[in-house]
Formats: sequence, structure tokens, C-alpha cells
Amino acid sequence: MKCTGMIKMVQPADYLMVVLIVATVFFQSVASDPTFEPTSSSNVYIVRLRGDSVQQRVSAAATTAAADLSSNSSRFEFQPVEYAEYLKSSHDNFLAQVLAPNSYEKLYSYTYLLNALSVQLREGGDQANAIKSHPDVLFVEQESLFRKATTHTPEFLGLPYGAWQLAGGAEHAGEDIVIGMLDTGINPSHVSFSSDGYGPLKNWRGKCVLSVSFPDGSCNNKIVGAQYFAKGIMAANLFNATYDFASPLDGDGHGTHTSSIAAGNRGVPVIVRDHNYGYASGVAPRARLAIYKVIYRDGGFLSDVLAGIDQAVQDGVHVLSISLGSTSGTYGVPALNTFDVALLFAVKAGVVVVHAAGNNGPYPLSMNSFGPWVISVAAGISDRSYPNPVILKNAGAFPGAGFSAGTPDEKFYPLIYAEDAFVNSTSAYDAEYFSYCQDSAPFNARLVKGKILMCNFVEYYSGGAAAQFQAALATAKNLSAVGLIILTEPTDIGREKGSTFDPIPFYLPASFVTDANASSEILDYYKLKTKKNKTGYIYEFGAYARLTDSREASFKVEAPQVSSFSARGPVYANTVTSVIADVLKPDILAPGNQIWGAWSPAGIDMNGYSGQEFALLSGTSMATPHIAGVVALLRQRHPEWCVSAIQSAILTSATQEDTRRRRLLAQQPSTNASLLLGPGTPFDFGYGAVNPTAALDPGLAFLTEYQDHINFLCTLPGADANTVQDATGGTCRTHPGARSSDLNVPSITIANLIGTRTVRRVVTNVADWEETYTSAVHHPGGVVVAVSPAVFTIKPGGTVTFRVTFRAASTVQSFTFGSVIWTGSNSHVVHMPLSVSANSVTG
Ligand SMILES: *[C@@H]1O[C@H](CO)[C@@H](O)[C@H](O)[C@H]1NC(C)=O
Ligand SMILES: *[C@@H]1O[C@H](CO)[C@@H](O)[C@H](O)[C@H]1NC(C)=O
Ligand SMILES: *[C@@H]1O[C@H](CO)[C@@H](O)[C@H](O)[C@H]1NC(C)=O
Ligand SMILES: *[C@@H]1O[C@H](CO)[C@@H](O)[C@H](O)[C@H]1NC(C)=O
Ligand SMILES: *[C@@H]1O[C@H](CO)[C@@H](O)[C@H](O)[C@H]1NC(C)=O
Ligand SMILES: *[C@@H]1O[C@H](CO)[C@@H](O)[C@H](O)[C@H]1NC(C)=O
Ligand SMILES: *[C@@H]1O[C@H](CO)[C@@H](O)[C@H](O)[C@H]1NC(C)=O
Repeated sequence: MKCTGMIKMVQPADYLMVVLIVATVFFQSVASDPTFEPTSSSNVYIVRLRGDSVQQRVSAAATTAAADLSSNSSRFEFQPVEYAEYLKSSHDNFLAQVLAPNSYEKLYSYTYLLNALSVQLREGGDQANAIKSHPDVLFVEQESLFRKATTHTPEFLGLPYGAWQLAGGAEHAGEDIVIGMLDTGINPSHVSFSSDGYGPLKNWRGKCVLSVSFPDGSCNNKIVGAQYFAKGIMAANLFNATYDFASPLDGDGHGTHTSSIAAGNRGVPVIVRDHNYGYASGVAPRARLAIYKVIYRDGGFLSDVLAGIDQAVQDGVHVLSISLGSTSGTYGVPALNTFDVALLFAVKAGVVVVHAAGNNGPYPLSMNSFGPWVISVAAGISDRSYPNPVILKNAGAFPGAGFSAGTPDEKFYPLIYAEDAFVNSTSAYDAEYFSYCQDSAPFNARLVKGKILMCNFVEYYSGGAAAQFQAALATAKNLSAVGLIILTEPTDIGREKGSTFDPIPFYLPASFVTDANASSEILDYYKLKTKKNKTGYIYEFGAYARLTDSREASFKVEAPQVSSFSARGPVYANTVTSVIADVLKPDILAPGNQIWGAWSPAGIDMNGYSGQEFALLSGTSMATPHIAGVVALLRQRHPEWCVSAIQSAILTSATQEDTRRRRLLAQQPSTNASLLLGPGTPFDFGYGAVNPTAALDPGLAFLTEYQDHINFLCTLPGADANTVQDATGGTCRTHPGARSSDLNVPSITIANLIGTRTVRRVVTNVADWEETYTSAVHHPGGVVVAVSPAVFTIKPGGTVTFRVTFRAASTVQSFTFGSVIWTGSNSHVVHMPLSVSANSVTG
């Protein structure tokens, strides 16, 4: 198979022995943590230098060695360890040459994927200019801030009777595949990562960095490596040793959660506050985990993230799962960021990279992930929910959020609204504040006792929603209420609060009504039934309600749906000129809403889960490790497949229909706090919802090599042969008139169709038999599409080239969507999304 990054990675013999050096070496579920917005005051720069990285030398040496096998002449003599040491000292020499002594500190030498360094400058601007103007320097980028962007989901994805069966049963799914987790570290003592029944892993080069907080025994045959990278966050003075831990220990919970989604052991009971919510399993329960802690409770920095990527690829991970993203946005050509280029090099080295789309949805152009070489993952709602309804007496039920027991005996209890329960008449201002129920003092306990107290929710409460709920629960308990209802007020600044709020455990019967419409209906019912005399005295509490036990899940059929927070395409090719890229992003939809995963009791800041072993979280952070697990299943099943084959398999087999066989729905931008649901497009869900079982047998694959990605970069507006050379070391080999849409991916995106454009694609038959494929076209609105040939027969391992011609029939000037579907005579279905903006009929 002709494509880049064959999985059998080159392993020069002298490279196996990376010794274990220990001691003190040296984006959130829903990433809505606005507390951490420092300017990049650390004055750290990432500097990329001329000259090969270790990996570039390794692949060059491998090519030479392969050529030498026949001639049996000299074996390649490349010495990676020595070369890495040479690069490190060349970095030191470079800095000593350019900068005054003691005016800087080198944080990292990156040697494996990138020949680059990060350095903290103590004297400011002139130093950066001196570096930039040095002839050995290719590219300088200032440090940037990164943020942390299942019990049931394996069943939802059809794994037990599908992909796991094909792997020889769940007890083998993901065997011997290493998933690298770039995250907040891990809770090593969690039963999801116990190594019972696992043998040692061969050909693994990763190490385990031990410390007091991550003692001997923290790594095992399940967690096969664990390292941390903190020089960048320390240089920024944002490392807090109290909870960040200078070790791979997870002081947050996020990394433990994502690790368990990808590869947590199977059948682990999810017990939170004495209630069993089911049994958890990772998507690839037998895969191993290699932990690279690069981000901390409040965020992290590019310099540390790059160090983690460099190390993970060097260690030999098969998949990288990255649930974090830059917060600063990108300037110029996003795909030429150091981060994206490092990921390109990881792909070149044979690692499949899975990256969170970001949580800035539901607005267009909100993606945090750009390169067509990575799989960018959108988050969807699965079919499981915890409705927690407020049931009004003879007046319907309204959905709420939160886990709690129900009100006693399934009886109805009178409702009392906070504003009717104060001791004294209060000013309007006080009444508003008191109605949040943060303090029991203003309340008349006699009035509240035995009733269900209704309080208001304030979106921008300083302590955050969790603290607000805890205080309201304490108030309700103090006043001997039988239950608590928290209502959402309509607001024009709020987004779909309901959809981004994850249920947290409440220790009283309680429900958070996240929908403003529902909240106002509950309040209307209360006002209608509650009888007051003219001075406002209540002489009849006639409004009754009850709450149900909300710890039991419900299952609905219309799933999945794209979550509101999930970032949306398209993406910019160049942010300065606002040119849209001919690239489909995001790539794939995976479950990312209300996902149970392992937790770190040391992670003390997450809503209501402190001290717990499991937590329920949402985010593209949670969707990403689902795909990393699917990649592990593919790598196990098809060890010889290269990165682009695996990527193509996952994408072309995705489904655009929900479980009712209707087009996938997406939560859309809404002008108020109520949820809006509408038909989704590829810019919401990419190729569609992941179908792991179909991905194992995709029929055809769209393959790309490293040089194809270089050529793609060369076509981007604002990039030319020199900028691409400087950013990647690669050489443009494009034909005149080459376009970004030429990249051989399984979709076609044309952001500016003028007249007619013809796009070529090459497919390879990765099935074991000859097959005849027939195309069916769904034309995007205003565009006429023709496929040639429309039918072809392809031998196993053979390739076929076909052309897709787009003709603008009317000037639409916004994206419309269609598809080409290839159906094989042996039942393979290969789906290619088309996204076109026809901007002029004549060209
Ligand atoms: C190849 O090299 C090996 C080891 O140096 C040697 O034993 C063998 O005879 C060589 N084969 C040929 C065909 O030159
Ligand atoms: C570190 O965190 C602890 C606990 O939250 C806090 O008390 C302390 O002030 C923090 N230290 C710094 C330097 O911010
Ligand atoms: C209610 O009013 C009385 C008399 O003005 C005052 O003494 C008391 O502190 C008030 N109680 C609260 C909770 O504000
Ligand atoms: C409610 O809080 C007050 C102080 O604010 C306290 O004196 C009282 O004992 C509490 N009552 C209950 C039932 O917890
Ligand atoms: C929110 O907006 C939708 C239309 O976008 C409207 O139907 C609904 O009534 C609004 N809800 C509230 C609570 O204002
Ligand atoms: C708001 O409530 C009304 C009455 O139940 C309902 O007809 C309407 O669809 C609701 N609007 C939304 C946006 O849920
Ligand atoms: C309302 O009821 C209260 C309590 O019985 C009483 O003090 C007040 O005078 C009544 N007001 C009117 C207008 O009847």
C-alpha cells in the first residue's frame, strides 16, 4: 500500500534503550473555565531551526537501509541518541551565540519530530528580534495558552457485537496497541487502569517518571508510560504545586476521564455517592495507555504540549489522543502553526492523531483543529439521558438536570417560590439576590418546611454553578424543604445553558430546570395556583409538584445529535485574509455529551465530583478518546495499514443518519436560553457519526502521503514555497493551478466555486476481493456534479482514479451540501461528503 507512515516504525537497535531516568526530572470537559486568561507574560518563544530532526534522519536512513538490503553494502550508520544529543548541544550553542549570558533560559530542546527549542527571554523584545534575524532560524512562535478542550457509549457504538467481536471478543479489543494521552495526567490507582491479566508490552520505549505523588507501581502493564512536562507553565508562574503536582498524577480529573474512555478496563462499576450508575468500559478496553501530562487544572502552554508530542512519538505510541487546544486563535495560516506542523510530523512518523474540534460551538468558523492530517472530533449526544423531570400536578412535566433521589413516596408537595418565602419585605434588589437561595437567613423556615422550594439561577455567579447549587441545597436543607427546583430565567445573553450543563449529584431531591421556557411555564403554573390577598399574603398554596429519582437513565431513539458546544466548520485557510479553506472540518462525530468516565479524587474543582471515582462530563474532550479507541481497534485489526488508510476508513464509513434513520440533527445557535435543534450539515458533524464496525472493513481507502500534505500547504493562500519550506522543511511539488481541494481526502470542499472545477481522487481497494463500485450523486444546491467514471471495477490492492466535476448552475454564495456515494457489489458503501459555495456561474 502506497502511503505515508507505515505502522511498522523504524527501530534502530541502539534506540531501544532509552533508560529510565527518574526522580525530579524534568482543554475542561466543557472547556468553559474563564478564570485563566493570562497574557503570555512568560516571554517564552518556540524557535524552529534549520537542520533535520531525529525522525527526519531516521526515515532518510530507513530509505537508505531499504535500498541497501539488496546490495548488502554498508548498513545505515545513523545513531539517533547521539544525534539527539548533538541537536541539544547545537541549541545551547545557538543560544549562547545569539544571546547574552544569563539573559535567557532554555526550557526544552525538541529533537525527535522538530528541530526546535523553547526559550524564556529575560530582557524582552530585542532578544526575540535577534533570534528571528539569525540565518539558522526558520520560524519563531510566541508561547500560547492551551486549554482542556462510558459506561454506555460502547453499546451505543455497537461495539460488543461488532468491532469487539472482530477483535476476538471484548477481552482482546485493542490488544497491544498503545494510546498516547496528551492531557492532565492520570489517577494510576483507578480500577479502570488495573493491569490484572496484562502481560508486558514488546517494543515499547516509553518511560515512567516517578515521584512522591506518583510512586513506584503507578505504572504497570496497563499504564505503560507516564511523563509530565511543566517547564512552560512554571516559566509562566502559573504552576500551583498544591494541585498541579510535579508528576504524572492527575490533579484535575480530565486526563483520567479521557484515558478511561479510550482504554479503560471493561466492566468497572460506576459508583458515585453510593449509587451504581452502570458499568464502564473504554472503547478499546485492552489497549495500553501512555500518559503525557502537558496541561494542568487551569490550562497549559504550547512549549509543554510540544514536548509531550515529541516524546510520545519517540516512545512509539500508535495513536495520540489530544483533548486540548490553543485558546489564542491563530494568525495567518492556521495549518502552519508549530502545533499543527508537529502533528503533521507525528503523522509522518506513523502515528494517527485524534484532536478535539473544540468547544466554541455552535457558531460557524469556531474550530480549534485545522490540519487535514489529523482527525478532528465533534461531540454528539448519545441516546442516554437523565431527564430528572419536574412533574406538576395535572399540569405536565418539564425536563431538568441533576442526579438525585425523588421526593418521598411519589406524592405531590406544595411549591413555594423563594420570593414568597422571605421573613421581611425586601427591596427589589435584595429580593433578586435572595431568590438565588444562597443563604437561609432571609427565609421564613416555617413557610418553607415540607414544601418544594423554587429558587432562581444566575448564570454569572462568581463561584460558578456548582458552588451556587451547593449553597442552594444547603439553604433548602436548612429550611427543611422536601425538595429544590432551580429555575432559569430567560436572558438574551445566555446560550443554551441546558445543553452544556452536565448533571451533578444533588444530595436532596432537586432539579435544575435548564430551559427558560419550561422555567417560565412552571412559574406561571405556580402563580396561577398560589392564592394571595391584596397585600401579598398567601392564603392557599395550591401549586403541587413532585420530583423523580433521576439517577436512572432513559434511552431515546433520536440519537446522535451534534451538541451545541461542539465547534463548527468551515475553517479559515488564512485568518488574515479570511479565506475559507477547501477542507472539511470537523471530521467525525463521537459521543461527547454526559459521558461517565474515571475520575481523580485529587481533582477537587469539578462540579460535585470531588473525592469521587467517576464523573459525568461533556465536551469534545470526551468525544476525542472515543475515536482514539476506535483507531486502536483498527490498528489491531489492520497492523499494516498506514495513517491515511485508518483515517479514510473511519471517515468514509461514518453515518449521516440517526438511530431513526433520519438526517443527523444538530443543536443550533439560539437567540435565547432555549435549545434549538435543526438538520445538521458536514460543518456540524463532518463525515458523520462514527461507525466502528463498518470502519474495520471500509472497502476503499483514500490514501495520502507526507508529500501530498506538503503540496496541500503550498496551495494555501498566504503560504508559498518558502514559507512551507521554513515551516516544514518540505519542498513544494505542485503543478501549476494546483488547489487545496486536490488533496486526496474522502470529501470535496470548494469554498469558492467559479464556473466549473474538476477534482481528481484516487481510491485503493483495501478489501480482499475484486469489487464493482457504482456512484450515486446528491447534488449540492445550485451545483451540478458529474462523476467519471461513474462505475468501476477494482482489484484487491488496485487503485482507480475518478474525477468529480462541479458546475455552478446558480450563484448561491453560501455553502450547500451533497455527496457521492459509492456502493460496491460486495456491499461496501463509501461515502464522500461534498461542500460547495457556488459564487459565480461563469468563470
Ligand atoms: C551480506 O553481508 C553479510 C554480513 O556482512 C555476509 O555474511 C554476506 O555474505 C553478504 N552477502 C552478500 C550477498 O554479499
Ligand atoms: C495554590 O492553591 C492553593 C489551594 O487552592 C491556594 O491556597 C494557594 O494560594 C495557591 N498558590 C498560589 C501561588 O496561587
Ligand atoms: C427583618 O426585620 C427585622 C425588623 O426590621 C430585623 O430585625 C431582622 O433582622 C430582619 N430579618 C432579616 C432576615 O433581614
Ligand atoms: C439553619 O441555619 C441557622 C443559622 O443560619 C442555624 O442556626 C440553624 O440551626 C440551621 N437549621 C438547620 C435545620 O440546619
Ligand atoms: C426562544 O426563541 C425561540 C425561537 O428562536 C422561541 O420559539 C421561544 O419561545 C423562545 N423562548 C423564550 C423562553 O424566549
Ligand atoms: C415553549 O413552551 C410552549 C408551550 O408549552 C411550546 O409551545 C413552545 O414550543 C416552547 N418553546 C420552546 C422553544 O421550547
Ligand atoms: C392579607 O392577609 C394578612 C394575613 O391574614 C392580613 O394581615 C392582611 O391584612 C390581609 N390583607 C388584605 C388586603 O386582606
